[in-house]
Amino acid sequence: MNLEVNGADVEVDDRHAKTPLLWALRDVLGMAGTKFGCGAGFCAACTVLIDGRSQKSCQTATERAVGKAITTVEGASGPVVDAVRSAWHSGNVVQCGYCQPGQTLGAVSLLESNLPQPQRPGHRGLPR
Ligand code: FES
Repeated sequence: MNLEVNGADVEVDDRHAKTPLLWALRDVLGMAGTKFGCGAGFCAACTVLIDGRSQKSCQTATERAVGKAITTVEGASGPVVDAVRSAWHSGNVVQCGYCQPGQTLGAVSLLESNLPQPQRPGHRGLPR
């Protein structure tokens, strides 16, 4: 099957169709920026962007990404990405750094989905 990863067409053997995208990226394509954390959809260390939306790659079969644009931390770029990275740096957010690829891509997806007023769908804000 053919995948588009960070703007490049790459070929992944069809036997990986049901393999979590996380492992296709890391083990098949050798892109280690996307991290394994819980493997169960809770920690978001494995977050990538698929057509601009954050997705947990440990919970996404590789075949589900065919025909879509996959962005990993290695290929993320643009003014929102730069702003998030700058904020992470100035706020000393990184700590150990392991989950930061996923955390930054989650923030980028949130901001790019509604830059003037970013919030999660259905979120009504903090109670007053
Ligand atoms: S590795 Fe924790 S959500 Fe995917």
